[in-house]
Amino acid sequence: MNYKNNFKFNRWYHYIFGEKFYKKLDFKWNEYPNRYSIIQETIDRKNYKSYLEIGCDQDILFSKIRIEKKIGVDPVSGGTIRDTSDNFFKKNNLKFDIIFIDGLHEYDQVKKDINNSLLFLSDYGVIFLHDCLPKNFISQAVPRARATWNGDVWKNIVESRTKPEIDTYVIYADNGIAMILKRPNKRMLNLGTANFKQLKFRNYFYNYKDYLNIIYQEDLKNIF
Ligand SMILES: C[S@@+](CC[C@H](N)C(=O)[O-])C[C@H]1O[C@@H](n2cnc3c(N)ncnc32)[C@H](O)[C@@H]1O
Repeated sequence: MNYKNNFKFNRWYHYIFGEKFYKKLDFKWNEYPNRYSIIQETIDRKNYKSYLEIGCDQDILFSKIRIEKKIGVDPVSGGTIRDTSDNFFKKNNLKFDIIFIDGLHEYDQVKKDINNSLLFLSDYGVIFLHDCLPKNFISQAVPRARATWNGDVWKNIVESRTKPEIDTYVIYADNGIAMILKRPNKRMLNLGTANFKQLKFRNYFYNYKDYLNIIYQEDLKNIF
């Protein structure tokens, strides 16, 4: 089965077994900064020296980043290391000032990528994650059912927002870019759930500003 048929099959699967919630959020991403602008501005402002990108694909972003040392990890294409993020982290012993997580956008994998990134982040570093603000149910449904897809990364961000030891935000830019800092949580979310993977798109739709701690690029310099 090719991937288009796979998507068709998964769409049916979601139609039958998925959440019956069809409202959409009207994010106009072309009116907001892109990921390159957020990441490069942070590198320049903080004078960061080392960058890790997980998931590089065609190097659209990776090739543009200007920094002293950069490593890109992808099992299929792009970057500098042809491997999965899990394997990379098993062998790695370097620390990074800035890590961009943009690999497999499924909750279980993103959870491992966040935890591993925290272990290899320098003390004053930052983790950014792509695709945290999906517009509708199908854009975030797992298994993947369309070509343009965010996955359910947003659930990992809700989970991060409940942790006292890290401080998490989502920048209103380029499909939602989360930012995780290694410092005490300044506005902890108390959700009373332990099962973040089971969160529903409906809950996100009505609560995303609070759940995800939405900020704008202009706020960044006041936050860190
Ligand atoms: C959305 S693309 C990355 C786009 C790129 N960061 C950019 O900004 O242009 C996702 C990439 O993640 C890669 N990927 C999938 N599973 C991965 C894994 N376990 N570890 C690292 N990369 C993975 C895919 O091969 C794909 O190239």
